[in-house]
Amino acid sequence: MDLKLRNKTVFISGSTSGIGFSVAQIFLQEEAIVYINGRTDKSVTKAVERLKAEFPNGKIKGIAADFSNVESIERLIKQLPEIDILINNVGIYTSKSFFETTDEDWQHHLEVNVMSGVRLSRHFLPKMLKKNWGRIIFVSSECATLIPADLIAYGTSKTAILAVSRGLAQLTKGTGVIVNTVIPGSTMTEGAEQFLSNLARKENKSIPQVETDFFTKVRPSSLLQRFASVEEIANTIVYFSSPIAAATNGAAIKLDGGSIGGII
Ligand SMILES: NC(=O)c1ccc[n+]([C@@H]2O[C@H](COP(=O)([O-])OP(=O)(O)OC[C@H]3O[C@@H](n4cnc5c(N)ncnc54)[C@H](OP(=O)(O)O)[C@@H]3O)[C@@H](O)[C@H]2O)c1
Repeated sequence: MDLKLRNKTVFISGSTSGIGFSVAQIFLQEEAIVYINGRTDKSVTKAVERLKAEFPNGKIKGIAADFSNVESIERLIKQLPEIDILINNVGIYTSKSFFETTDEDWQHHLEVNVMSGVRLSRHFLPKMLKKNWGRIIFVSSECATLIPADLIAYGTSKTAILAVSRGLAQLTKGTGVIVNTVIPGSTMTEGAEQFLSNLARKENKSIPQVETDFFTKVRPSSLLQRFASVEEIANTIVYFSSPIAAATNGAAIKLDGGSIGGII
């Protein structure tokens, strides 16, 4: 399938590793022009080098910016050209009791997870509307509706993303711009691998056993009963960013392995 993404310019927030990095790889396979991002020059340079090794003819650039810092975001926006596709992927989480979660913890989740997409969309959506083409994809989480008790700030931020995304889609009526949100379930990033291997060592179990325990005890509602691969999530993100996905707008697309439940 030709996704018709050749020479489209894409920015992916939080993409030096994890789902964002995999999204960058797939866009490069499709010959898009890709801007990746992380907090430091060091991590961005390393990720750009990895991508250049894999895609020697790829058009890859990296910009360091910390989405918890407004000035840093302003600098990022100044450095970016006009883009066709915005992937609001960056997201952080802290597992903590609600009673120990401070105002600063709440602010940090809301700044990085919600305001990152708000600020980037406020800048890029008017330009997309003007040229009558563009794609904005927000990355939410199954935690937006499951709201695990130790992740209330994270879950709240991921629910807020659904509202922002749907609201922005209303602004695109009758245009060639679309705004959608994907809702991944538990995904096997480098961070998740590290978490499982630490837990396996601590509990003297094998990694597959720890994964099975996670789905039995923590995500019993998952129909997939395993972590999704980053590619499984990234492929869908890239598809919904493509010109051929024009019929989907204002949607919340579940990539949750069935954990959220419900018919639609
Ligand atoms: N993994 C899952 O199971 C899962 C499930 C559902 C939803 N999600 C969502 O999917 C998205 C990607 O998740 P992931 O697990 O792939 O993330 P991850 O592996 O933790 O992502 C790390 C990336 O985020 C960047 N980053 C972190 N804080 C940043 C900040 N303040 N400013 C700029 N960049 C920052 C890191 O950059 P540097 O380290 O280079 O600074 C790195 O590129 C998130 O929105 C997450 O909530 C993930």
